[in-house]
Amino acid sequence: MNRVRQQDLGTPAPATTGTVEIEIDGLPATVRAGTSILRAARESGVDIPKLCATDSLKPFGSCRMCLVEIDGRNGYPASCTTPVEAGMKIRTQSDAIATLRRNVMELYISDHPLDCLTCSANGDCELQDMAGAVGLREVRYGFEGANHLDAGVDASNPYFQFDASKCIVCSRCVRACDEVQGTFALTIEGRGFQSKVSAGISEDFFDSECVSCGACVQACPTATLMEKSIVEHGQPEHSIKTTCAYCGVGCSFVAEMKGDQVVRMTPDKDGLANHGHSCVKGRFAWGYSTHRDRVLDPLIRDSIEEPWRKVSWDEAIGYAAQRFREIQTEHGRKSIGGITSSRCTNEEVFVVQKLVRAAMGNNNVDTCARVCHSPTGYGLKQTLGTSAGTQPFDSVMDADVIIVIGANPTEAHPVFASQMKRRLRQGARLIVLDPRRIGLVRSPHIKADYHLPLLPGTNVPMINALAHVIVAEGMVDEQYVRERCDIDSFEAWKSMILRHENSPEQVAKVSGVPARDIRAAARLYGRAERGAIYYGLGVTEHSQGSTMVMGMANLAMATGNIGFSGCGVNPLRGQNNVQGSCDMGSFPHELAGYRPVQDDEVRGSFEQHWGVSLDPEPGFRIPNMFDEACAGRYKAIYIQGEDVAQSDPDTKHVEEALANMECVVVQDLFLNETAKFAHVFLPGTSFLEKDGTFINAERRINRVRPVMPPRQGKDEWLITQELAQALGYPMNYANAAEIMDEIAELTPTFANVSFSFLDEVGSVQWPCNDSAPMGTPIMHIDQFVRGKGLFIETDYVPTEERTNRKFPLLLTTGRILSQYNVGAQTRRTDNMVWYDADLLEVHPSDAEVRGISEGDLVSLSSRKGEITLTATITERVQPGVVYTTFHNPETGANVVTTEHSDWATNCPEHKVTAVQVTPASHRSEWQNQFDENAKRQGKILETS
Ligand code: SF4
Ligand code: SF4
Ligand code: SF4
Ligand code: FES
Repeated sequence: MNRVRQQDLGTPAPATTGTVEIEIDGLPATVRAGTSILRAARESGVDIPKLCATDSLKPFGSCRMCLVEIDGRNGYPASCTTPVEAGMKIRTQSDAIATLRRNVMELYISDHPLDCLTCSANGDCELQDMAGAVGLREVRYGFEGANHLDAGVDASNPYFQFDASKCIVCSRCVRACDEVQGTFALTIEGRGFQSKVSAGISEDFFDSECVSCGACVQACPTATLMEKSIVEHGQPEHSIKTTCAYCGVGCSFVAEMKGDQVVRMTPDKDGLANHGHSCVKGRFAWGYSTHRDRVLDPLIRDSIEEPWRKVSWDEAIGYAAQRFREIQTEHGRKSIGGITSSRCTNEEVFVVQKLVRAAMGNNNVDTCARVCHSPTGYGLKQTLGTSAGTQPFDSVMDADVIIVIGANPTEAHPVFASQMKRRLRQGARLIVLDPRRIGLVRSPHIKADYHLPLLPGTNVPMINALAHVIVAEGMVDEQYVRERCDIDSFEAWKSMILRHENSPEQVAKVSGVPARDIRAAARLYGRAERGAIYYGLGVTEHSQGSTMVMGMANLAMATGNIGFSGCGVNPLRGQNNVQGSCDMGSFPHELAGYRPVQDDEVRGSFEQHWGVSLDPEPGFRIPNMFDEACAGRYKAIYIQGEDVAQSDPDTKHVEEALANMECVVVQDLFLNETAKFAHVFLPGTSFLEKDGTFINAERRINRVRPVMPPRQGKDEWLITQELAQALGYPMNYANAAEIMDEIAELTPTFANVSFSFLDEVGSVQWPCNDSAPMGTPIMHIDQFVRGKGLFIETDYVPTEERTNRKFPLLLTTGRILSQYNVGAQTRRTDNMVWYDADLLEVHPSDAEVRGISEGDLVSLSSRKGEITLTATITERVQPGVVYTTFHNPETGANVVTTEHSDWATNCPEHKVTAVQVTPASHRSEWQNQFDENAKRQGKILETS
């Protein structure tokens, strides 16, 4: 295998479009106007030496290595900071230039440890390369004078180190942190010889503002900032491009390998979702895939009280199939079903839903998107005609006003957050609707114009109030609405929106946000040339989640903000393949491409292809499965990569349902909380072993390529295929590419997609078919997918979950940067140094009246249950609201969340729970039970 070499053209591409003719070393070249001479030369195959320049950062002009001569100009301008001009004649080599470059290099080397042969960057160091390029043979200055050779190493970050003795003070790291990541954690301290890179005032990296994104490490041309994995294992030998398996940004990476060991994950500059940037999870937190907790043998047991027995694949799959068939014989065809995973590839998901429909003979299949973004699918389909976001991420760079609603991009979608922050630093305006003061509200060089800290559960009145101002004050884009939207529905919506109860003054009473702020925010968005809405689970995980999604679509249509770059309604998807798992037909009422299973023509095309009759009746959603299990009618389940016992609300109900089932089959990497109730455990593969595709939040189909063979010996799609065969259904794919071929054949929006096409073009955004052969970055350009955009009335029906004297506070939940979802992956990495336990954020006034201090153990109780956790006192939350994360199973955050759910999709109301918080002296009963329940996990006996 070869090593992927990422090209560095020295300076970013210019924003211009025209070209100019120039001459470089006597040869003609046509380059884009505004290109730097350095880039123009590199594009023409001439490598001018450079050190402080790199194409991800603005040119800086400090190192003086890139000097050139230009006809008609005096001196030796730096080629990185000098743009080309028509007719320019440039010389990149001459005796004088060579001497100047050698002199500069000599100075650098005279203050550099000459340990190249033993240095971990040996062979991958720009300083070393440039010393060779300029022909440096000797250094005239001794090492006796002042130097930095004994400067120390800061190894405080778990993933990379800073060896100050090797620093050439080129500022690339500082600029990367500012320009690419937007954290502004680094500075150059001191002047002249004293200058040095500093992470905060006398702080090490760990204690600084650094968020470990790795951009500075990536930018450093020397071994100063270096991944510890490279220091430990040495330089990679080969590499392969793949996709991050954490969040819905879907960053492309180059997995760099030594043998079959990953030694580094480098963000791919060609990745169209991330453009060479990353966050701490994708960049560094991949060690879970080889963690000792990985289960690599199939396991079975007859009862959940028994220890697990290691068995062969044949025995495990045969046992599961036999139990499924026995249960169907006894309890009926519909007594079993399955859940697909948004962490798995499209191909793996597709075969699971096919197994349920074709081999189990019912439509009892659902996906974990049920508990996160199902209202997105419903709401956008109803209003616009497609269950997906409207824009590519890059569109944010054209937005004038950005509204972020119920999302926390800097924590949950960090690479997109960096891009958004770049646009905000360029001058775009920002409105944040969130009960909590998220990082975007105020961070270095960013300040939201308006933060509307609405009470949890009041999104719908708030979006109605924003629309009320826009309609009442004449900010509707009448022409757009007339041409593009269904007028009757618009008129009906308009009448509803203008009702008194939707005025800012009335909504202020419900939401707690002053009317003047609502009006001002509405005017800002309403008058924007291009206004973009980004939202997350703070929108969807409510009993009115679908209403709110439709409310945002209404607002965007009314203001003419759909169908162009810089606009749109954009869901920030939580998991890597939420979009894909929904696209693949994981919902009980829809086949791939969101087509109703009840539609005879649609179902007929699948029946013909699959050679089997399909049930025309929609199956159970996940909450129905649990309710039916508790009622004794749903008896067995195949769960692909989802830890329902931790991630779904009302934990006790979920556990009761699982315990009631006769056969629970879990396919996952680790024995998780759900596996405590399982009878068969089928070991899954990590993303490093998968061959397939993920689809990110912008509908981008990215390739996932295996960098090592499946560690447990079997591809996940093959496990499902063998289970289907054992159930008597002939499923016979030879590889994952064949599964995608079938998806493309059966799904019009994927018609032109294949592995070979993706390998050729990199990635593509669906729809990708004959009408859009290279995909569709922006949806609804000339008309909405459904024809006319449909306004839907969004009356506010408050949640039944209310505060009262017993439960006077509202709990809302979210994520933190270093951890991911239920934490199964990130808890098995060094990310634990940043956040090893879920904390409860309490406002100082609520803490004071309860006698709670920072770090106290507190009880968090709701109508559903009680847990204990550690309190942290902060004004990030408003009085009356508390907040926690759900990354650790022993916290049991979902023990307190309720059964309330979205009226249209049953997406649980994770974001609104009435609670009480009191000081606690000991752990809750549930947590004591948790330890007790751990025994249910059962030991693993070595032999059967
Ligand atoms: S790792 Fe990222 S956040 Fe930390 S200093 Fe480097 S660029 Fe800044
Ligand atoms: S740490 Fe690396 S990137 Fe930063 S100034 Fe030093 S050599 Fe340049
Ligand atoms: S932003 Fe998301 S996709 Fe990108 S590296 Fe981080 S976790 Fe992975
Ligand atoms: S690369 Fe141009 S001055 Fe450093």
